[in-house]
Amino acid sequence: MTNPASGIPVIPLPAIATPIVAAPMAGGPSTPGLVAAVGDAGGFGFLPAGYRSVEQVADDVDDLLGRSAAPFGVNVFAPLPERPEEAARVPEYAERVARRAALVDAPLGVPEHTDDDFAAKVQLLSRLRPAVVSFTFGIPHTEVMDRLHAAGIGIWLTVTSPEDALAATGAGADALVVQGWEAGAHRGGLSDEEPAQLGLLPLLALVRRVTPLPLVAAGGIADGAGVAAVLAAGASLASLGTAFLRTPEAGTAPVHAAALTEPRPTTVTRAFTGRRARALVNAATVALGDDAPAAYPEVHLLTAPLRAAARAAGDAENLHLWAGQAHTLAETVPAGELVRRLAADARTALAAATAALGGRPGGAG
Ligand SMILES: Cc1cc2nc3c(=O)[nH]c(=O)nc-3n(C[C@H](O)[C@H](O)[C@H](O)COP(=O)(O)O)c2cc1C
Repeated sequence: MTNPASGIPVIPLPAIATPIVAAPMAGGPSTPGLVAAVGDAGGFGFLPAGYRSVEQVADDVDDLLGRSAAPFGVNVFAPLPERPEEAARVPEYAERVARRAALVDAPLGVPEHTDDDFAAKVQLLSRLRPAVVSFTFGIPHTEVMDRLHAAGIGIWLTVTSPEDALAATGAGADALVVQGWEAGAHRGGLSDEEPAQLGLLPLLALVRRVTPLPLVAAGGIADGAGVAAVLAAGASLASLGTAFLRTPEAGTAPVHAAALTEPRPTTVTRAFTGRRARALVNAATVALGDDAPAAYPEVHLLTAPLRAAARAAGDAENLHLWAGQAHTLAETVPAGELVRRLAADARTALAAATAALGGRPGGAG
């Protein structure tokens, strides 16, 4: 297939046995062990480069290569432009954060605008050549796209609207990560304002009509039936984040893993990082509300010590408990077993759906 905008042949999806992706999860959960287990079970895993130094990313890749020969991807946060009018609201917000931080005896962090060492990460990855580099929060410059493509790396861009999908296709993406409103953690599209707040199935249907690129569906998928649903809806791969958070290979903080089992609602909030993200409702999301400044990563850096102290103390009320809407379905099974079970259950679900439509699986009906 060629990209309809650039006319350049797209880099095909990696040849994997099972169309299941372990979504990138920065901040601890996505370890090299998790990515290796998923890859060895025939799925496809991502190492996160977000919040990691260039050296740590290089070490993670090294670690992974020592564990598994399966293809893998690396996820990078595209730098967000500075928003001076939003950054100007940070000092006032800091006073509210300070009151919570005092509860756990934590200092405030220093709110700066950084790009998370974007250029150096791109340089490293063009040398290390993972099968895929995915970007969230935006579309990188043409030079970055060209550089990764020249290294034979497939580029996946995260989209949360049909408009994003058109822009990402036009920028030369090889596949689109279609992130529904149900998804855990940050909104990954070009904007986090999202007046339409599209759930995964309508988003897939709308995106399918504006691009021929392969689609990777993410958001709220937690069992085999969910995998089957997105494949039937036209996705090539199903990507799950929260479902892997309680696997033993994941580096999820124990307080976070435990909270996922509680029937708490989720909310989409800027309170922790300045970028909208889905988290379990807790005292911090209630107290800090949703009028936090849209200043990422300034707010992320401001609240980091509060969240680290809460994590260390096992205090579920003062950290970001990222979670997708189906979080109570996350199980403590080994990641490879989860991949195999999801695939088997997806086959069963598709067979049942085919039978319900009056046909035989694989038959003419
Ligand atoms: C704890 C956590 C961390 C995440 N970190 C990242 C990240 O670093 N980069 C990224 O593109 N997406 C990140 N995501 C979003 C996932 O890639 C994916 O869109 C989401 O997990 C799908 O929804 P689900 O959690 O309901 O499966 C994260 C999700 C979670 C739950």
